Amino acid sequence: MYSEKVMDHFNNPRNVGEIDNASGVGTVGNAKCGDIMRIYLDIDENHVIRDCKFKTFGCGAAVATSSMATELVKGKTIEEAMKVTNRAVMEALDGLPPVKVHCSLLAEEAIHAALWDYAQKNHIVIDGLREPKEDIHEGEEQEEY
Ligand code: FES
Repeated sequence: MYSEKVMDHFNNPRNVGEIDNASGVGTVGNAKCGDIMRIYLDIDENHVIRDCKFKTFGCGAAVATSSMATELVKGKTIEEAMKVTNRAVMEALDGLPPVKVHCSLLAEEAIHAALWDYAQKNHIVIDGLREPKEDIHEGEEQEEY
């Protein structure tokens, strides 16, 4: 059912954890299953993502896709990171079962939310980036939708 790459990233997830004083932090909930993902980005003065970490209350597919997504955005500029879609992540993992495709959206949305946080803090505009809808702030309840 799952590719070898998915199993590898599920069993040995890369980049799990937090970044102190992160340049941007994004937290999103998945409307379909209620699972939650948080991404931390460390971005240097040239807009290159030096480091990326994640924490999740998500399923195995969410762990594997987030692990791969963090690997793909590390070392990239924020413009390049915007092109790391859930589709690109799924391709890098040799596919996901259709019922698990929504899980791969968590990482993409959380990365976008972290980039949004970074853009807000630094008063910059990132092309193609929209304000995250499902952002859940510390201590706040998730919005109803
Ligand atoms: Fe919730 Fe996969 S079932 S993230």
